[in-house]
Amino acid sequence: MKAFRVPRDIVFGWGCLSYLKEIKGKKAFIVTDPVIAKLGFIEKVKGYLNEAGLEVEAFTECEPDPSRETVEKGAELMKEFNPDWIVGLGGGSSIDSAKAMWVFYEHPDITWDQVFSSVPPLRNKARFIAIATTSGTATEVTCAAVITNRNVEPHVKNVIASNEITPDIAISDPELASQMPPKVTAATGMDALTHAIESYTSIAASEVDKALAIKAIKLVFKSLPKAYADGRNKDAREDMHTASLMAGMAFTNSFLGIVHSLAHQLGSQYGIPHGAANSLMLPYVIQFNSIAVSELYAEIADALNLEYENERDSVKKLVDAVFQLQKDVGLPQTIKDAGIDEKVFFDNLDAVAQNALNDICTYCNPRVPSVEDMKKLYTAAYYGKDVL
Ligand SMILES: NC(=O)c1ccc[n+]([C@@H]2O[C@H](COP(=O)([O-])OP(=O)(O)OC[C@H]3O[C@@H](n4cnc5c(N)ncnc54)[C@H](O)[C@@H]3O)[C@@H](O)[C@H]2O)c1
Ligand SMILES: [Fe+2]
Repeated sequence: MKAFRVPRDIVFGWGCLSYLKEIKGKKAFIVTDPVIAKLGFIEKVKGYLNEAGLEVEAFTECEPDPSRETVEKGAELMKEFNPDWIVGLGGGSSIDSAKAMWVFYEHPDITWDQVFSSVPPLRNKARFIAIATTSGTATEVTCAAVITNRNVEPHVKNVIASNEITPDIAISDPELASQMPPKVTAATGMDALTHAIESYTSIAASEVDKALAIKAIKLVFKSLPKAYADGRNKDAREDMHTASLMAGMAFTNSFLGIVHSLAHQLGSQYGIPHGAANSLMLPYVIQFNSIAVSELYAEIADALNLEYENERDSVKKLVDAVFQLQKDVGLPQTIKDAGIDEKVFFDNLDAVAQNALNDICTYCNPRVPSVEDMKKLYTAAYYGKDVL
């Protein structure tokens, strides 16, 4: 049996934030970060929810790659306020924090180990609205939340994966994302591309997932450079928000692969933004996986109208296209260029590679890697050398 699970209500399109006026309830608790707070999005959200008759409170302290401590702090405030709606507002960091706080709000005695192994039933106290302000993680439609453990060395990102934390309502309004600065546009756009490519090649992908993924790939190649070059390009912003949404609907059902396993550690240990970390690893993982699924990469190359001589060449052309896109949107092309010290990187390599191998995303990768493979992939991406 195959299944396709997404939030019950997904609203999208320019200005769809006003859907909040239709929410029925008493109290909403917004979870967001200080940048979003400054941009005035909270007032907008609050305005619509007040219009719907809800009392609103906001937590604005989420940080990029959110920590367990932030989640615990927000959950405590949530318990005091006692909301019947939780509103995750922001990029992946804010929405993932909100998802994890939700679990602790509904189950105050739960431990982190339990959260990561099996989330008990939610929705006894509150339901969840996710409002995406970046065009990348698509956590507004996914069953995942990524939380960083900074109490261990090297720091590690752990993934909560459960249909329980799939939001009830996803709001995908490109107007909010149109304020992203170019750097965030670039990184989050490469995250969306990585979701789509990893979904397409996942061992768990269905034809339904792949149809969404392939369209998302086409939209990213068409519109990411335009959204990066001119943030006011409304069509490009809409395309990127749609691409992110479609890739998210695909990967929440197919799951991901080792680009994410490797990138998670670059985020937790070195602070490289999630999308930029994916972008660094993606070309090398395509090379590595091509031994198992070159025909799928050829299909992606076909969708992008890339010219090639044979299947092997299609993989090369796809890798070249990813490198070109990376360049077009000003992202670093090697881990070294991302400013990570060589000695520090290689001193940590064994432990970081082991964490990457253990990451939940490794299980659906189309080629089974060893820890040595993970080290080779990191080394290739550090110096910008082919992995084959
Ligand atoms: N749950 C999932 O399914 C999933 C999938 C992929 C990644 N993730 C996780 O999501 C996190 C990354 O999320 P992200 O890439 O969306 O970035 P983010 O949430 O960390 O945001 C990046 C920066 O952009 C700012 N920002 C967000 N929206 C903005 C806007 N509209 N205008 C101006 N600035 C804005 C934020 O304040 C922040 O400073 C990582 O922790 C990653 O591991 C989760
Ligand atoms: Fe991602």
